[in-house]
Amino acid sequence: MSTTKEHTLRYTYYDREDEMPAQELELVKKALAAREKAYAQYSGFMVGAAVLLENGIILTGNNQENAASPSGLCAERVAVYHAGAEYPDVKMLKIAVCGGKKGSSSAVPVAPCGACRQVMAEVIRRYGRDFDVLMIGEDETVVIKASSLLPFSFEYIG
Ligand code: THU
Repeated sequence: MSTTKEHTLRYTYYDREDEMPAQELELVKKALAAREKAYAQYSGFMVGAAVLLENGIILTGNNQENAASPSGLCAERVAVYHAGAEYPDVKMLKIAVCGGKKGSSSAVPVAPCGACRQVMAEVIRRYGRDFDVLMIGEDETVVIKASSLLPFSFEYIG
């Protein structure tokens, strides 16, 4: 017998910075600052990410491009791997992502690419905890659970 299921997404929109909790606003500011240091030599699209850990520490990342393009890496993965390398035993609570062409910010919220979503799914499995993704845009910021961004992520069952 076949069964059809439905999956619902729940997310929060903030269209004013002052409505955002202070902790999230701080994370947004760290992501924006990280974006300034991105190395986006080829696309000119600069992305910044900031990860908040359970111990209160914030680690950042930004996109690192390469002439051999697949060798570069997205901001989110730089930030997540930065956290994994520095604090392998500390859970991740939130990640904020922002981006835009050099000198300007994207009007719409910047959403993580598919590969970064798969890496986030691994973080959920690794620490047994879902976490918030803050997608920052000039006009609004969306907060959504990482699990909602990739419902059917790849799992390796050996
Ligand atoms: N990029 C990110 O940093 N994060 C994403 O989730 C999507 C894309 C970067 C990769 C590349 O350096 C630039 O944005 C343009 O694709």
